[in-house]
Amino acid sequence: MSRKKITHEDGFQGTLLLISPEHALDRQPERRSLVPAVENCPDILLERTAARMLKQTLSEVGAGGRIAVVSGYRPHQEQVDIWEDTLQKEGETFTRTYVAKPGHSEHESGLAIDLAEQRESIDFICPAFPRTGICQRFRRAAPFRGFVERYPAGKERVTGIGAEPWHFRYVGYPHSMIMTRDGMVLEEYLQFLKTETSPDRPYCYEEDGVRIHICYLPLDEWEGRELTWPDTFPALLSGTNEGGLVLTCWGGWYA
Ligand code: DAL
Repeated sequence: MSRKKITHEDGFQGTLLLISPEHALDRQPERRSLVPAVENCPDILLERTAARMLKQTLSEVGAGGRIAVVSGYRPHQEQVDIWEDTLQKEGETFTRTYVAKPGHSEHESGLAIDLAEQRESIDFICPAFPRTGICQRFRRAAPFRGFVERYPAGKERVTGIGAEPWHFRYVGYPHSMIMTRDGMVLEEYLQFLKTETSPDRPYCYEEDGVRIHICYLPLDEWEGRELTWPDTFPALLSGTNEGGLVLTCWGGWYA
């Protein structure tokens, strides 16, 4: 059996962290977990698995040089500088709509990437990433590799951020598939898991004959307890940064 004792730390690391106007990022990613998002941009970093999946998706859709990476991991001070600079140039309403408050940006986690259609001039804050051509091909393929369009139009009141068709967030498969299929943003998806699932009542996602079970564990109930599952089944645990953990088990269910 595999065993894992749940610690407080576990609630604040992983791919399903909710980073939003209400939920500040609890800790900075480790520098060694960050790698160049794509080969030809050594300065734009992303969390290692997210970078691998981004490169894979770009290659699968045949992006060539037609999609540019604009912004990936931002150290806290960079987010402060962007916030202040935008505030000065564009004013408060624009800034609050398109720039997350320092400490509350997904970019500070290394799990978010802004993409642009390759053009002569690319806007750093609001890059063009249209719903046509190569950009749309990327958008369609992204959930298969763990990415979601994080700030879709129509969800501004839920996310607290304006529609950003260029901002992709790595949440991991199969969460990206479920969220995209059901039109749920991360806030809604975590709320769904929180209210509708438990170790006895997991949500079951099925694709191509593979079953994946997902459930929410409240951190205050599980901290200090031991989770066990058979070695034959891969399982992944992610904190949610809002008081819980999400357990994802391939092939079977054991808690
Ligand atoms: N543009 C997004 C909201 C950020 O600044 O994190």
